[in-house]
Amino acid sequence: MSNRLIIVGAGGHGKVITDIALKNGYTNINFIDDNVKGSCMDFPVIGSSDRIFDLNDGKTDFVIAVGNDKTRKMIAEKYDVNWVTLIHPSAQISTNVSIGIGTVVMATAVINADTKIGKHCIINTGAVIEHDNVIGDYVHISPKVALGGTTRIGELTHIGIGAAVINNINISKNCVVGAGAVVVDNLEHSATYVGVPARKVL
Ligand SMILES: CC(C)(COP(=O)(O)OP(=O)(O)OC[C@H]1O[C@@H](n2cnc3c(N)ncnc32)[C@H](O)[C@@H]1OP(=O)(O)O)[C@@H](O)C(=O)NCCC(=O)NCCS
Repeated sequence: MSNRLIIVGAGGHGKVITDIALKNGYTNINFIDDNVKGSCMDFPVIGSSDRIFDLNDGKTDFVIAVGNDKTRKMIAEKYDVNWVTLIHPSAQISTNVSIGIGTVVMATAVINADTKIGKHCIINTGAVIEHDNVIGDYVHISPKVALGGTTRIGELTHIGIGAAVINNINISKNCVVGAGAVVVDNLEHSATYVGVPARKVL
């Protein structure tokens, strides 16, 4: 592991990732952001995204702190740098779990046995992902979401804060599941679903 980390995105998500980075031993932290100037969490914002290639010296690690899944994908595919996976030390990761490059796992999240998580996902604070799940690339699992066993979630889908998904459910790519929803049937279309039980609204 390098000691230098560049966090792409100096918003609220960047603050949470800074704390995880510090707990993983990074001390030399800089931010890149197209809008925020100055500093974030007392670490300097050193420029906008057009500097990423210049800063890629082969010794620096990078992570994306952008909540929008499509933007995260765009950044990850545009810049071929040393993206790293960051896991908060309080997260519980079970045996035989695989976690893709660039994914961030936040405090107290639980990921149970034989689950596969794609690249550049966000597994947010206190989320519980049960056994044998398959989570696609660029998925965001929000705080306090509970996913039952053997759930499959397609790429770029966002599961909203506090939602629950019962076991053996398939959720399509490019879906949004609203905060507090309870998913009891497969979600086959790329759409927005809310409520208990979750129904398509948009
Ligand atoms: C589902 C969601 C994306 C919809 O947002 P939107 O596209 O702006 O849609 P709107 O707010 O216009 O809502 C559309 C309809 O769904 C309803 N609705 C929206 N979110 C809902 C939810 N979570 N539960 C139940 N109903 C909801 C609205 O009341 C509205 O109903 P109406 O047409 O009868 O008035 C959003 O409300 C949501 O839940 N986002 C999750 C955010 C989150 O978890 N962030 C975590 C960050 S870490």
